[in-house]
Amino acid sequence: MIGIGMIFDETYRPFFEQAQAEGGIYDPRFGLCAVELTGVASRTGTRAEAYRKAAPGKLAQLSSFSGADSAAQLLKTDVDFVCVATPDNRHFEAASAVLKAGKHLLIEKPSVLSLAELDELQRLAVEHKVLAKVVYHKLLDPDHKKLRTLVVDGELKHVNNGYCTLLEPKSISGGQFAEWIVGRNPGTYVAVHYIKLIDFTFGGRLKSVQCTGQRGLVGPADGPTWDSTQLRMIYEYADGREAAFDIHTSWVTPDNFPGYVEQEVQFRFDNGVWNAHSRKRGVECTIEGSTPFKRKTTMNNHYNGTFAEPWGVRSQRGYGIEVIERFARELAYVEHGGPATQRSERLDQMRNFAYNDVSADRQTVAAVQAMEAILERHVKGQPNCVVEIDHEAGGLVLLAPGSSKPEVLYSGRVNAAR
Ligand SMILES: NC(=O)c1ccc[n+]([C@@H]2O[C@H](COP(=O)([O-])OP(=O)(O)OC[C@H]3O[C@@H](n4cnc5c(N)ncnc54)[C@H](O)[C@@H]3O)[C@@H](O)[C@H]2O)c1
Repeated sequence: MIGIGMIFDETYRPFFEQAQAEGGIYDPRFGLCAVELTGVASRTGTRAEAYRKAAPGKLAQLSSFSGADSAAQLLKTDVDFVCVATPDNRHFEAASAVLKAGKHLLIEKPSVLSLAELDELQRLAVEHKVLAKVVYHKLLDPDHKKLRTLVVDGELKHVNNGYCTLLEPKSISGGQFAEWIVGRNPGTYVAVHYIKLIDFTFGGRLKSVQCTGQRGLVGPADGPTWDSTQLRMIYEYADGREAAFDIHTSWVTPDNFPGYVEQEVQFRFDNGVWNAHSRKRGVECTIEGSTPFKRKTTMNNHYNGTFAEPWGVRSQRGYGIEVIERFARELAYVEHGGPATQRSERLDQMRNFAYNDVSADRQTVAAVQAMEAILERHVKGQPNCVVEIDHEAGGLVLLAPGSSKPEVLYSGRVNAAR
């Protein structure tokens, strides 16, 4: 692990603990494959130390590296794969070091913040013959799987437009992320879940990106740190029709909000409407002296819930953990799923998964890079810029109101086909 913060605790920790308790992961193609967390790199080492003290079994022996060269130290050890869960703007350095060391890579969303960085990760993965994958756990949410199934099967026909919203509590921006929040925005942090959902579920070509937002709560109203953002993406489909998607995000929702986060989507089709509310899946629970602070009133028991199972054991499971296990299975298949002479075929097969491979993350990263550039211009006093994708001047081109001079953010094509 590089980075051992909130997401480690919610998803990676339960996965590794479960893999240890069960003796590994099993598949008839690769047999029983042990998966052990052996080392952690982080800024201060404090959380790693605390985890080591509390961790069950062999996990208590994991090595902890801290400081500026912690990742480099970790990479010198005999690890097969490395998960990068550092803050959003610190993924690239760690991820590229992992690939250069010839280790398989699993990286938290958003993969990286620019297409140039994505190109480099892709190049390194091919050069070193390893997997480079990104965690987009919302694609494994059963509701989103059903949405995609109805689209793939043609029951829902041609998406017309839609909106998504994800609101994080104030405690996120004010506490958990205080160390790295300056200059950051909740759009890159959470809109990216829905950018990927839209891109993966509906396909099409991303044409343009707009974004605005509000400042003044997390930092000064004229500073670089954003409280909330509103992103608009326009896609074009093979028949020439367009769809607009609006994604609203925030990390300043009051802490007495009834749920951990507010998550809602609505997609409209030629023949239907899909409404989903991840917080209101049917559970509402009030406990005196506990809700909505210690425990939330509405809970998402599908992402990462702790349960007393009917057969008498305790578990922690959900799609947030399943997505990490899937990666481990893909990797075990590459390394142990058949003769060594056919490893490259297996590697290619696993790279073909568009839901998690970096090679399929181009439009998502394009939207993130565009959003970051638009917000940066806004901070510098030039709001309401638009970024066009695969414009005649370049792959990612920022157009400012009142200016006839486009700024090329990325010169290569975002979509090779055009
Ligand atoms: N999939 C999801 O739903 C989800 C949810 C939360 C966070 N995330 C993503 O996970 C990543 C981490 O988020 P978090 O909430 O765990 O953050 P966090 O602030 O709780 O933890 C960050 C960790 O990174 C370490 N770190 C920071 N800089 C480092 C460096 N240069 N080298 C090594 N370690 C470094 C810190 O020591 C800490 O252990 C972010 O990219 C975030 O977007 C994903």
